[in-house]
Amino acid sequence: MLTFNRGLIIFFLFFLISNCQQQQMEDTTSVESGKNEGVLAKNGMVVTAHPLASQVGLAILKKGGNAFDAAIAVQYALAVVLPKAGNIGGGGFMVYRTKDGENGALDFREKAPLKGDRDMYLDKKGEPIKNLSLKGHLAAGVPGTVAGMDAAFQKFASLPFSEIIQPSIDLAQNGFELTEYEADLLNRFQEDFKAINLHTPYLVREEEYQEGDSIYHTDLAKTLERIRDNGKDGFYKGETADLIVKEMKAGKGIISLEDLASYEAKWRKPIIVNYRGHKVISMPPSSSGGLVLGQLLKGSEYFDFPSFGVNTTKSIHVMTELQRRAYADRAEHMGDMDFYEVPIDMLLEDSYIKNRISDITMDSATSSQVIKSGKVNTIESFQTTHFSIVDKEGNAVAITTTLNSYFGCKVMVDGAGFFLNNEMDDFSIKPGVPNQFGLVGAEANAIAPGKRMLSAMTPTIIEKEGKLFMVVGTPGGSTIITNVYQVILNVIDHGLTMQEAVDAKKMHSQWLPDRIIAEKGCLDSLTIDALQHLGHEIKEINTIGRIEAILVKEDGTYEGAADKTRSGDAMALGY
Ligand code: DON
Repeated sequence: MLTFNRGLIIFFLFFLISNCQQQQMEDTTSVESGKNEGVLAKNGMVVTAHPLASQVGLAILKKGGNAFDAAIAVQYALAVVLPKAGNIGGGGFMVYRTKDGENGALDFREKAPLKGDRDMYLDKKGEPIKNLSLKGHLAAGVPGTVAGMDAAFQKFASLPFSEIIQPSIDLAQNGFELTEYEADLLNRFQEDFKAINLHTPYLVREEEYQEGDSIYHTDLAKTLERIRDNGKDGFYKGETADLIVKEMKAGKGIISLEDLASYEAKWRKPIIVNYRGHKVISMPPSSSGGLVLGQLLKGSEYFDFPSFGVNTTKSIHVMTELQRRAYADRAEHMGDMDFYEVPIDMLLEDSYIKNRISDITMDSATSSQVIKSGKVNTIESFQTTHFSIVDKEGNAVAITTTLNSYFGCKVMVDGAGFFLNNEMDDFSIKPGVPNQFGLVGAEANAIAPGKRMLSAMTPTIIEKEGKLFMVVGTPGGSTIITNVYQVILNVIDHGLTMQEAVDAKKMHSQWLPDRIIAEKGCLDSLTIDALQHLGHEIKEINTIGRIEAILVKEDGTYEGAADKTRSGDAMALGY
């Protein structure tokens, strides 16, 4: 009886909502498809954030490797050519779909060291010590990337590992030319490299880096050779492990030989939801990506997004309302499910979603304080890297991987040539205290030895009518999930091409702080006025996200869309 009544009320609410939509808001902006397509190819597609990494991936596909071979090769190549985010000293997540339609997820997220504890970043009064979880040795989690690539290799590879990793060793050993963007970044972080390291990393130099300068990563080449020759033991044991632990001891870090030797990547069951007839396959905890995306998409089905249009008052308002609820759930309920019982089924249950959105109205913004209380800072940091790959058989791989901040904790392992992550900041270092992305958390994401910190990374694959449809993901910290969400809506609801969906300006909101951030150009002044009138606070920023995605068109052609508008280095290559 209770259910029946609630059902009736919800039905009535939606009836009201759709009518209000027509009456109370006049849309002021709209983006329509002008059929601006990305790179088209029939046999394979590699979309990454760096042209050299895309070339490495494409060469592997062309020589007969599958999407998994190419993905492993690209992951290692990015560790060489994109050291701000590509890594072997960090971690990430992979979502895949094989040519036979089997899907799965691989969690190679970093872990808290065994000597870590929940209060390790607090002073004697219980207050967070500034920057301790962000910079320097103590900020590093136990890296997961090499174990992740090894697990992917063991399960899916078709080429010998030496052939997959060799292009990256060659790039590191023989050198390559810096792009303008990478040269700028190396210049920007010189002071941090000097201040935080106890040795002088080889990337520190007197004269400024310029576009076209040749750069060599000789120590890294040797580390990669050890991985080539010994598999994951070439990283987690022996010389590389010794170098990491020596570095830790020098800088009062706590990662031990035991931490390294015991690290394992984990195969996980992906989060799967349906969105308007599409099967969306995404990352489960220890990332919040799939769950939050799932909640957003399931909530979106109750609203007529196709008629709203892209970046209109209606669409931004409803997306914001959905986002603030999903991010409130993230803060309370999500964490490493090996340590905390995440109520996955409940969070995605139809009745839960219906109930959660039942107080959304079209004529005013809900205050986030009403949804739950808390205070946070702001989001201003966009690194990490995502790549999407499809081979000629239709195997598809989406990987998002990171050191967290630019160059992670900025500590380069002396003699090993790679940066360590600062992923420990993604834990809730104290309940209600925001991390660098303004995200808050509590018990579910508290630090514990061996636990993985909660991520927002959202590598995602979508099927339509049982066939591969889209491969997508992006960097962007907390904005990752809302970016992937908007790209999905842009294609499925608004009929944009993959490239248009990537290029379209994005917005983001996350419960706290209680405001919408929007890329400049996302909202025109009338839309801003209309949203403010509804009670939304709006902050404009320069860029949100760097989606790298692939769409499979009806005739089976792959459309690869690199985000060239926000990062000139990104490149889609197909054949
Ligand atoms: O795992 C996470 O959610 C973050 N460590 C990702 C960091 C990131 O995307 C940085 N910015 N682009």
